[in-house]
Amino acid sequence: MSNRKMLVTSALPYANGPIHIGHMLEYLQTDMWVRFQKQRGNTCHYVCADDTHGTPIMLKADREGITPEQLIAQVAKEHTRDFSDFGVAFDNYHSTHSEENKYFSSLIYTRLRDAGHISSRTITQAYDPVKEMFLPDRFIKGECPKCGAADQYGDGCEVCGENYASSELKNAVSAISGEKQIDKESVHYFFNLADFTQMLTDWTQAEGHLQPEVRNKLAEWLESGLQQWDISRDAPYFGFEIPDAPNKYFYVWLDAPIGYLASFKNLCDKKGLDFDEFWAKDSKTELYHFIGKDIIYFHALFFPAMLQGAEFRTPSAVFAHGFLTVNGEKMSKSRGTFITARTYLDHLNPEYLRYYFAAKLGAGVDDLDLNFDDFSQRVNSDLVGKVVNIGSRCSGFIAKRFDNRLSAELAEPELWFEFIAANEMIAECYENREFAKAMREIMALADKANRYIDEKKPWLIAKEEGKEAELQAVCTMGLNLFRVLVAYLKPVLPTLTYSAEVFLNSEVHGWIDALKPLLNHQLNDFIPLMTRVEPDKIAAIIEASKENLEKTAAPVVVKEKQFAPIADTIDITDFGKLDLRIAKIIKAESVEGADKLLHLTVDIGDETRSIFAGIKAAYSPEQLEGRLTLVVANLAPRKMRFGLSEGMVLAAGGDDGIYLLSPDSGAVAGMRVK
Ligand code: MSP
Ligand code: ZN
Repeated sequence: MSNRKMLVTSALPYANGPIHIGHMLEYLQTDMWVRFQKQRGNTCHYVCADDTHGTPIMLKADREGITPEQLIAQVAKEHTRDFSDFGVAFDNYHSTHSEENKYFSSLIYTRLRDAGHISSRTITQAYDPVKEMFLPDRFIKGECPKCGAADQYGDGCEVCGENYASSELKNAVSAISGEKQIDKESVHYFFNLADFTQMLTDWTQAEGHLQPEVRNKLAEWLESGLQQWDISRDAPYFGFEIPDAPNKYFYVWLDAPIGYLASFKNLCDKKGLDFDEFWAKDSKTELYHFIGKDIIYFHALFFPAMLQGAEFRTPSAVFAHGFLTVNGEKMSKSRGTFITARTYLDHLNPEYLRYYFAAKLGAGVDDLDLNFDDFSQRVNSDLVGKVVNIGSRCSGFIAKRFDNRLSAELAEPELWFEFIAANEMIAECYENREFAKAMREIMALADKANRYIDEKKPWLIAKEEGKEAELQAVCTMGLNLFRVLVAYLKPVLPTLTYSAEVFLNSEVHGWIDALKPLLNHQLNDFIPLMTRVEPDKIAAIIEASKENLEKTAAPVVVKEKQFAPIADTIDITDFGKLDLRIAKIIKAESVEGADKLLHLTVDIGDETRSIFAGIKAAYSPEQLEGRLTLVVANLAPRKMRFGLSEGMVLAAGGDDGIYLLSPDSGAVAGMRVK
């Protein structure tokens, strides 16, 4: 029995969308590893949180007409329900929008600043003048500078795959307002990552911190030099304000990993655990982060450097994994393979997926393909056909013939010991996150157990007279082997294991090295443990995922046209025919019998004009007298019911109101507008 003390995390999912089965690849492998550690007798805390800050969440709340706080509260509920239904047993699930996270973000920042690791300077960035906000790359769109494809975003071209700076997009506009972006300056704060070059070189290259392929990648990045990291964003931003920097917010990626500390602190406060024991610089405990390969940079460079610079301990290891593909391709909404956790749960047993992932996961960063044929085949043949089958084959006789009572002795102690002896090997596989290898070992044992039963043929013994004891012994042996298998699968299949434990009337505590056979033991009635994958359920998932398409579509709203289309092109001579003049309104009066019109007398320099203008809804006569505006001075006079109108006053608007134009100060009545 070991007693290591460990803290384990999974990456914090963004709070702007549902959990999907790609995410589950991460949360399930972490959960299986944590369950394994606990079963081994280690003290292991597993924490996570929603990652709630940043522009996309702010804009999504905006579109839904709710506050970001409302949005993240709603998403937190959905996320926790998805995780719990998949059997992911966090010890704590928190939020980055929390007091603890605000505290630690400020603390870490101020420590870094006071140690001289923060600098500030003015940078120029794309800005949406309508929405009045700076635009992250993915909210700028235009034509790809390489292939010319339209509607490509600032973070890369989806058509040709080119990566470029958003400033290289042609005819770029804000994807939020559709308006042309402008360049605007602003002061930003930077974390001087390069201060930690030596520390990071040592940390990343040290044995055990990173997987070999990740370590090599890091060596390349370190080689090419570390840049300053921009950690501030301007208002409006949903996040934490930077201490002593009003209107500047921490970039979401600064406070996100600090969310690991925050979630653990929250757990400590609830459970009376010692926070410092896990996070102080001299901590003797172990700290592990499970992440996808897309966020290695943050976890293997920024985060260790921040922790080091702020006098906290650094991680014991970062475990990166590859991406989930479905039927050989990137998850796709239109193919119906962008499958949310909820859609899956609506149709299939979560433990199928837990097992499937385990059966295919190694310790590397390779992508993992969920192929639905393979999925059904493995679940049906391994879990239903091999493991569950042993239980159901033996339990029937024990129930019918022996009143659910097991024999007093093991028929084949050597076989039992062989099963137990495999524990070290299987533990090593789990420990090293070689889940697939662990599953292969376990299934090899399952084959052995089935072979034992096939050889003994209890169904034949049952027909012979006077072989009661033998029948009971064979089934007792079979069920004990079944129990070892289930105990090995406990980290992967908590629900199946639980049902098996109820049936066996005995819980497995701890690791299998300490397992004793059940002899002379009373069972409960057999509980069906798992049924075969139904193919029509898979079809239903794909169908439902296609239907989800509309609900989850387009993260960015393209602006609808709200103004009248631009009129036909004219040339300058056409324009020159217009005589536009600054006019001073000397008198404004209501017109009896006309509820829309005002009668204006205007001075246009060398003459006065009488004009009827349809602006009564927006202006009272007193508001107008004395002010300057614009008129078309050469419009043919028009005879109206109330008199002759000798020109036209210019105003913007329509259904939304009427806005009279005025010149800048300095203009005087009579000046021509060109
Ligand atoms: N919020 C950040 C992580 C902050 S950690 C301090 C984030 N969120 S995420 O929702 O996009 O992803 C959460 C985790 O799920 C990441 O580790 C990511 O790599 C992983 N995955 C997201 N899609 C995935 C697949 N299709 N396949 C495997 N893992 C996937 O990144
Ligand atoms: Zn392109």
